[in-house]
Amino acid sequence: MELAAVVQNAQALLYMERYVDEGAKTYSPFAGQTEAAPRYCPESDEPFFELVTVNAPRDRVSVFQAHPSPGLLEHFVRQQGVLFPVHPEIWANETIEGLAEISGFPREAPIKVAPTASTRTVLALEHPRECPDHFIKLHYPVRISRFNRELRRQNIHNSVAVSRDLANLRFEKFAYLPDALGITFGIDEKSWGFLVREARPRPFIENRFLIPCFALYAGDLKHPDACPLLVQMIARLAVEPASFVIREIFTPIVECWAAAARERGILLESHAQNTLLEVDQDLIPRRVVHRDFDVWVDLEARKRAGLEMPFLGRGMAADTDEAIKQHYSLVYDLFIGHHFFDYVLRVLKSHYTIDEEIVRAQVRNVFHQSFPDADRFFPARTMFSFRNEPSPSLKPVLEDMQQEPVWR
Ligand SMILES: Nc1ncnc2c1ncn2[C@@H]1O[C@H](COP(=O)(O)OP(=O)(O)OP(=O)(O)O)[C@@H](O)[C@H]1O
Ligand SMILES: [Mg+2]
Repeated sequence: MELAAVVQNAQALLYMERYVDEGAKTYSPFAGQTEAAPRYCPESDEPFFELVTVNAPRDRVSVFQAHPSPGLLEHFVRQQGVLFPVHPEIWANETIEGLAEISGFPREAPIKVAPTASTRTVLALEHPRECPDHFIKLHYPVRISRFNRELRRQNIHNSVAVSRDLANLRFEKFAYLPDALGITFGIDEKSWGFLVREARPRPFIENRFLIPCFALYAGDLKHPDACPLLVQMIARLAVEPASFVIREIFTPIVECWAAAARERGILLESHAQNTLLEVDQDLIPRRVVHRDFDVWVDLEARKRAGLEMPFLGRGMAADTDEAIKQHYSLVYDLFIGHHFFDYVLRVLKSHYTIDEEIVRAQVRNVFHQSFPDADRFFPARTMFSFRNEPSPSLKPVLEDMQQEPVWR
């Protein structure tokens, strides 16, 4: 893809989500795997597919809100019932619990959508004029990458609660796509449903454009000879590659991550699929936009900061000091360092002469300045990963990689 298309072509974001991810999913043995049917995968050639929708009675659903725009709320939560979309592959699966009852409700018009890079979050291609652009994140209980992609009450409740909480994180280079509305069918713990993510970053600034971070370094499936967007950007802006990437990508991501963790106990999973670089009309990077807030929360950190606890569940899976450290390491060292920063550095190395150790040392510096008491939260001199369990149904177990974390 040509970099200029980012600002010239309204379809560019969707194109990057779907086709500029070549070579990016090698960070684990599961990363490139999916059980989703090929036509629903981002890289399919189908321009769109349709979500099945029903009109669900108000008293049969739970509604969660993070200040959705009124037009969005009215589109889904109506006087006569709630517009409840279901992924077509799930609709066709009779074994899905609750579906028998849902399919008995009156059908509404289908929603034309296209998948984004995560497969289970789709972009609505059509909607009423009063309703802003949005993505819909769906219950899609098939294995995509490492996990079975269920979207149950706790995932939905917490995604919306974190979206609300992030309004308090004020940082010049931080913005986010809020999961502004969440709906589950039913009220029990097992109930499932969907999230609606507004496409407009908060806080909103006009004339800005988004590039999913993986598309900065990944290949273009449809144009195998295209130069990575990051390399095109460096040439166009005539900047020094290493300092540009440190300043515009690594530093804001590390600083925002540390601020969210330290100030609010929220461990943003700022990997390359959950972050988007926001550029202005001249393709100059301005902010990093974050998405996907079904994340771990360090409840102890929030307690210490005197913050409210609007979340379901125990936050982290375990609450011993050691387990908390493992989670901090998993999210920062593995998701951000290994799954994202390593890839950016590799592209730099393959196009320019750079000293990668100097780059990492500068990022480590930024990390320690942003997180001065990191030693209390992270394991010393090692990092954690998921154990590569053969069975995806087992709860993920973390294991010590016995490897120096090179980005902290
Ligand atoms: N470069 C990438 N890095 C990480 N994940 C990627 C990348 N490209 C695509 N993905 C896909 O994105 C998903 C990442 O999982 P994650 O849990 O962050 O997202 P999600 O919760 O499914 O959806 P969303 O981010 O839309 O809320 C996986 O399905 C993975 O295959
Ligand atoms: Mg994600």
